[in-house]
Amino acid sequence: MAILSPSILAADAMNLQRDLTQTAQNGAKWLHIDIMDGHFVPNLSFGYSTVKGIRGFSDLVLDVHLMIDRPIRYVEEFCKAGSDILTIHVEADTAENTKKALEMIRAMGVKPGIVVKPKTPAEAVAPYLSMVDLVLVMTVEPGFGGQKFMADMMPKVKKLRQMIDEVNPQCYLEVDGGVDLETGVICKENGANVLVAGSAFYKAADKPAFVRQIEA
Ligand code: DX5
Ligand code: ZN
Repeated sequence: MAILSPSILAADAMNLQRDLTQTAQNGAKWLHIDIMDGHFVPNLSFGYSTVKGIRGFSDLVLDVHLMIDRPIRYVEEFCKAGSDILTIHVEADTAENTKKALEMIRAMGVKPGIVVKPKTPAEAVAPYLSMVDLVLVMTVEPGFGGQKFMADMMPKVKKLRQMIDEVNPQCYLEVDGGVDLETGVICKENGANVLVAGSAFYKAADKPAFVRQIEA
């Protein structure tokens, strides 16, 4: 059993409301929103107002992925905008600020999460594991949708599954990048229980079937 978190980076930017309504109608419960600053990653995407706008009309669980430098500067605003889960990158600031930012998110009543880029080892998550509700493993270099799934991230997913089971068994383990029905199976076999899918979901001809199969 897993949860699908469709990434709206792959939705139609001119028809977000239509696509989000359909996303919920197709059976998805979560929504993944990528926030990029053009610095931590070489791309720009959405800001507070998009999260706030989506919150205003959608009951989906808003899973907000911050790909920004020193996220401590922005976490309060993204919590206020209506995030349900707010994830920050382990590489984006000092350990002290990362801990402070996770505490700030928790204090705002939002679930904190920590993300690792492909070159960052599982062990980098250890200092934060008891503080978070979600660990996100990038299975592509963050910044762009539509990239190829990195199967060599699976030992890291497996290792994090063990660490989570030992330290914080309620914590979600999410994967993001290049996930489709085929690669999703590999992620689940290695212990992931939340699967982000952008291109594969929004291009799927039969979306209700996609949700059912990937969540099975
Ligand atoms: C990449 C983003 C992903 C992206 C995934 O930086 O974090 O969430 O939208 O897109 P696909 O599923 O197309 O690889
Ligand atoms: Zn993402």
